[in-house]
Amino acid sequence: MKKIGLALLGLGTIGSGVIKVLNENGEMIKNREDLDIQVKKILVRDVHKKRNVTVDKNLLTDDPEEIFKDDSIDVIAEFMGGEMPALPYIRQALSRGKTVVTANKEVIAKHWDELELEARKSGAGLYFEASVAGGIPLIKTVRRSLQANHITKLMGIINGTTNFILTKMSEEGRNFSDVLAEAQRLGYAEPDPTADVEGYDARYKLSILSTICFRNRVTVDDIYCEGITNISPDDIEYAKELGFGIKLLAIAKKQNGKIEARVHPTFIPVSHPLYAVRDSYNGIHISGDMVGNLMFYGRGAGDLPTASALVSDIITACQNGGAHHRVKLDDEQITFEDNWEDEYYLRLVVRDKPGVLAEIAGIFGRHNVSLNSVIQKLKTKDNATIIFITHEAREAWVNAALEEMRTCPSVLSVESRIRLER
Ligand SMILES: NC(=O)c1ccc[n+]([C@@H]2O[C@H](COP(=O)([O-])OP(=O)(O)OC[C@H]3O[C@@H](n4cnc5c(N)ncnc54)[C@H](OP(=O)(O)O)[C@@H]3O)[C@@H](O)[C@H]2O)c1
Repeated sequence: MKKIGLALLGLGTIGSGVIKVLNENGEMIKNREDLDIQVKKILVRDVHKKRNVTVDKNLLTDDPEEIFKDDSIDVIAEFMGGEMPALPYIRQALSRGKTVVTANKEVIAKHWDELELEARKSGAGLYFEASVAGGIPLIKTVRRSLQANHITKLMGIINGTTNFILTKMSEEGRNFSDVLAEAQRLGYAEPDPTADVEGYDARYKLSILSTICFRNRVTVDDIYCEGITNISPDDIEYAKELGFGIKLLAIAKKQNGKIEARVHPTFIPVSHPLYAVRDSYNGIHISGDMVGNLMFYGRGAGDLPTASALVSDIITACQNGGAHHRVKLDDEQITFEDNWEDEYYLRLVVRDKPGVLAEIAGIFGRHNVSLNSVIQKLKTKDNATIIFITHEAREAWVNAALEEMRTCPSVLSVESRIRLER
């Protein structure tokens, strides 16, 4: 029986989840894995705060040094969140040879190279399964079970908050701010929801996951990002009428030395497997050249699912003797594509007069954008809403066409431009 000294940095939602998992299943883990995981210290901001799990008060500290200098601590699990002071604490732990397990996507996405290097220097392990899609075992699966593949594409819903909001908007016909307020009341959205609704959280996760999948470093800056704040109930209704739903998708593709990586709201057909991923659930579709298509589904956040991934990392770290198993990147030179091809849903309000459609079709034509379908919707005395679904077109062509339309007197407004994946 191996005894492992564990320190926790944080005892909020996720830290409490880890304590619950160890309390409930610690004995089982001990028997099955021959590991006796003993919590030695817990770092918090306020040692006097009332906690929603019972822990020995003597374990709590607000002094990180007590943890770093304690030789009985082998593994440090971090779930404080944010960059500061989590980053220096992780760096400090690694440099002192202590293995780190973290749920912190922001720190890993932004500081991967530096932390990898620190881990390599000291030989301590760095594990971050819980940083992407909470309880869904993606990183381990890609690293340990898909080594025989070139992964060519991944596409998924990796932010539960925005999926909850879009599901409610679609199923209950409510607007964005109304559902956001409910998500905040239920604890699905933070008081400051920017990271979720602007797509930044999904971008951090996509940066980590696509790096692991493609074995090329995909930084946050390499990823195009657009959130859901401009999605209107009208677009959701039109999507339904056309047989689609709107999801915030994270998409990454690798082909012929080029990677494209992006996070944006996307029309997907109701027959698409990701359409069935509702509420705060996550779903990720991965394509490998040998295995074909795989789909993962589950809880992408929450105390127990995330703690399940963290405790699994703690166990793996102990079984690896705390050693660092670095993600070896390929030498291949790659470029990043930002002029990808997609179909588009476009909604315009135009003057209702003869010749307008021909004028708009002419603009699309001049920019190489061909149309799949055109539907005229709401019509008032003087104007009409028109929806266009394009064939596959380059991002730059569509943008140029919309730019020209904005200067066209017959076009009153370009209301929406949403990409479409079949
Ligand atoms: N919530 C989820 O569902 C979820 C899912 C996946 C990943 N994550 C990631 O897990 C991490 C933690 O999330 P959470 O929801 O558990 O956060 P949380 O509930 O806000 O808990 C944060 C904990 O960290 C402690 N802390 C914060 N700053 C500190 C400081 N400067 N010094 C000492 N302690 C400090 C807090 O101490 P006090 O309690 O004393 O204030 C608190 O216990 C984040 O990186 C998040 O992205 C969360």
